[in-house]
Amino acid sequence: MGIPGTSYLLLSMFFMMIMLNGKDICITASEVSDEKLHIVYMGSVQDEGDYQTVHHEMLESVHGSHEAAEQSLKYSYGKSFGGFAAMLSPSHVQQLSNMDGVVSVFESKKRHILTTRSWDFINFPLSGQSKNLDYESDIIIGVLDTGIWPESESFNDAGFGPVPSKWRGGCQTTSDFTSCNKKIIGARYYHASSDPPVPDEDYLSPRDGSGHGTHTSSTAAGNIVKNASVYGIAQGDARGGVPGARIAMYKVCWGPSEGCEDADVLAAFDDAIYDGVDILSVSLGGFGDDYFQNSIAIGAFHAMKRGILTSNACGNDGQEAIYNYSPWSLTVAASTIDRTIESQLLLGNNIGLQGLALNTFTMEQSLYPLIYGGYATNTSGGFTYDNSRSCVANSLDATKVKGNIVLCYQGSEYNPDQTIFLTEGEGIIILDDYFDETARPYLVPATLLNTTQGDVIISYINSTSSPIAKIFKSTTPKEPAPIVASFSSRGPNPITRNILKPDIAAPGVNILAAWSMHSSLTELPGDTRFPKFNIISGTSMACPHATGAAGFVKSYHLEWSPAAIKSALMTTAYIMDASLPHNGDAEFGYGAGQINPAKAINPGLVYETDVNDYIKMLCSQGYNDTTLRLLTSDFSSCDSIEVFQYGALELNYPSIMVVTTPGKSIYAKFSRIVTNVGPPQSTYKVIINTPSGIKVTVSPDTLAFSTLNQKLTYNITIEGGVIPSNSLVSGSLIWVYGNYSVRSPIGVYCHLS
Ligand SMILES: *[C@@H]1O[C@H](CO)[C@@H](O)[C@H](O)[C@H]1NC(C)=O
Ligand SMILES: *[C@@H]1O[C@H](CO)[C@@H](O)[C@H](O)[C@H]1NC(C)=O
Ligand SMILES: *[C@@H]1O[C@H](CO)[C@@H](O)[C@H](O)[C@H]1NC(C)=O
Ligand SMILES: *[C@@H]1O[C@H](CO)[C@@H](O)[C@H](O)[C@H]1NC(C)=O
Ligand SMILES: *[C@@H]1O[C@H](CO)[C@@H](O)[C@H](O)[C@H]1NC(C)=O
Ligand SMILES: *[C@@H]1O[C@H](CO)[C@@H](O)[C@H](O)[C@H]1NC(C)=O
Ligand SMILES: *[C@@H]1O[C@H](CO)[C@@H](O)[C@H](O)[C@H]1NC(C)=O
Repeated sequence: MGIPGTSYLLLSMFFMMIMLNGKDICITASEVSDEKLHIVYMGSVQDEGDYQTVHHEMLESVHGSHEAAEQSLKYSYGKSFGGFAAMLSPSHVQQLSNMDGVVSVFESKKRHILTTRSWDFINFPLSGQSKNLDYESDIIIGVLDTGIWPESESFNDAGFGPVPSKWRGGCQTTSDFTSCNKKIIGARYYHASSDPPVPDEDYLSPRDGSGHGTHTSSTAAGNIVKNASVYGIAQGDARGGVPGARIAMYKVCWGPSEGCEDADVLAAFDDAIYDGVDILSVSLGGFGDDYFQNSIAIGAFHAMKRGILTSNACGNDGQEAIYNYSPWSLTVAASTIDRTIESQLLLGNNIGLQGLALNTFTMEQSLYPLIYGGYATNTSGGFTYDNSRSCVANSLDATKVKGNIVLCYQGSEYNPDQTIFLTEGEGIIILDDYFDETARPYLVPATLLNTTQGDVIISYINSTSSPIAKIFKSTTPKEPAPIVASFSSRGPNPITRNILKPDIAAPGVNILAAWSMHSSLTELPGDTRFPKFNIISGTSMACPHATGAAGFVKSYHLEWSPAAIKSALMTTAYIMDASLPHNGDAEFGYGAGQINPAKAINPGLVYETDVNDYIKMLCSQGYNDTTLRLLTSDFSSCDSIEVFQYGALELNYPSIMVVTTPGKSIYAKFSRIVTNVGPPQSTYKVIINTPSGIKVTVSPDTLAFSTLNQKLTYNITIEGGVIPSNSLVSGSLIWVYGNYSVRSPIGVYCHLS
């Protein structure tokens, strides 16, 4: 399948082609400019069918010429699901939609990576586990991201055996990515859309120009690297969740900000599923759309059908929106680890203040003169106090800044450290009341404080004729954890309210992992620090921790379904404390709790769910054949399906989410099925922690298993009074046998309207 060279060129060729053929095929210029990248879904994959030819012929019939069809076709999908991506006008879409075998046609949109710009450290909590490296070496982690930096020590293949025989993927080499190895066994890139072209600062190859994909891959499955740090900060062993596993990189995201195109994402899923990956890690997202409109939900659905769990980041929009909430994927929130990254400010009056920053610089002098940006306005340049207090570009009088530490209020979307760097200041103190726990790097020695602390500094500046200060290199003090990051997106699930999302929390704040040597610490001009490891934050970082944990579980249970692995991770999760700050959203913040991989390999019981269960759920929530087929890409139908009486509540999910509306009392009765994956003979008893004001009954209250893989059913009745609007009350249902504790969180949520 043709992956275009420089897309910009292709775009102009494309226009020429159409204009040359304009007379014959009656396409006008305005129609041409109407063409957008679309995805055309066909029925299920035929075994060895020559699907490329079929796609070609279909396109030829709408475009009117062989050449135009060739230019229009961007991908033929056919390894794992049927369909293609092509440039189409509205009338092409119309014609194709009516063709035999076409399930649906939809426009390709852009997703983006889910990192906030910030930095810290983690020792992944798997340490202390037996290394399991032999089992792990058969596990292949597929990562859809910005590419990978193959020279990183995290991906050295020393000691790795031959590539697992099940691997069917390839390595797309170019002059700047010359080979894969026994650790990075697969690498491809996808850039079908010519608009915009590949950014200058990126590579048209699987090589990572930004660092994000290198970071996520090494977090999921990077080797153990001793004594890793960012210039000595957060020093320790860096390692992935399954350091013995293999990595396959599917580069679908481009440049620092260009994003990730749906058509590329689907092409990567099509390949990865066929190639033989075991777990997919997808730290990207965007748009609160329905499952059938979302390339990641669609790709994850196909992966699930083929026994592959997709781990997803839940988004960095805090209370605003959650992403990637499909029930067949694992939706991961970001939590903190027990250390933070602080840089201390010392004032000349001996007051010390702890700020948040990844400050790699050691200031040489004992103290430096300190000024406030608001008192150093570049008035001759036409700037005001309001500009200079935020240290807006050029707003400071450079003669006053040089040699000083400058105090600045954070303005909107602006890097004040760049102003200080360009005016040769010695350091910066940034005042901001929006804290998201993330320690960011700056171009000059820096620390971030709140405005209350800022008042202390300004009164000190006011109190003396020659204020002085010093900013210290970052240290990593302990702090209470885990806490849900304030940026981590919160539930409820906007599409299927009766499925709790996120599913689980994993470390995602101030995480140390491998980095692209093409990307400086701040990614700002003038930064000469190109670290091998970097500290960044986001649900993008949480997702690969869960991926690694899932890979770890899979390495012990190669035959387990995606639902079983997910169930194991959720029911064994470390219970988080809703009374800690930022944990107030309870299950909407952390789902079942923080991953506990060591326990997840031995969960006792699992909740199984298969493709038919998901189809039943979708039909129950009002999907019709059209929307259903957008997901399944086959001719599935809701016609003969008996829908769930209580909707998605009845899906055999490892958590329980009941939704009510204001003023209404609650009643629901449904069943769950547990499969015994623990000791063959085992008798579990139920423990119910009831949400306040709610009655939960479980029948039977004892489950006696006699064989491995035996399935037993129990009924749950949830009834109760009215709960306050827009509020969540929490409880749990736990099956206990000896050391085994199979916990499902219960949430009851009263949703306005
Ligand atoms: C660990 O790394 C630090 C910082 O890069 C370096 O100073 C130190 O010598 C290293 N220690 C060992 C034991 O390699
Ligand atoms: C003030 O701003 C002007 C316009 O941006 C700039 O050219 C000039 O160098 C600045 N003056 C000082 C003293 O920084
Ligand atoms: C500012 O930070 C200090 C020290 O951490 C803290 O005690 C204070 O409550 C914070 N103020 C605000 C408004 O967040
Ligand atoms: C510092 O001095 C300025 C000007 O005299 C005054 O407006 C401001 O309130 C003072 N700030 C503090 C925190 O003392
Ligand atoms: C199916 O559902 C979609 C979305 O709700 C709607 O737009 C469409 O008209 C429905 N199709 C049929 C055939 O009912
Ligand atoms: C569970 O509910 C079903 C349907 O209401 C009922 O037939 C069955 O007897 C119940 N089982 C138990 C153990 O209560
Ligand atoms: C419970 O855990 C202990 C210690 O890990 C172990 O020795 C014991 O066999 C376990 N018991 C069961 C029933 O799994």
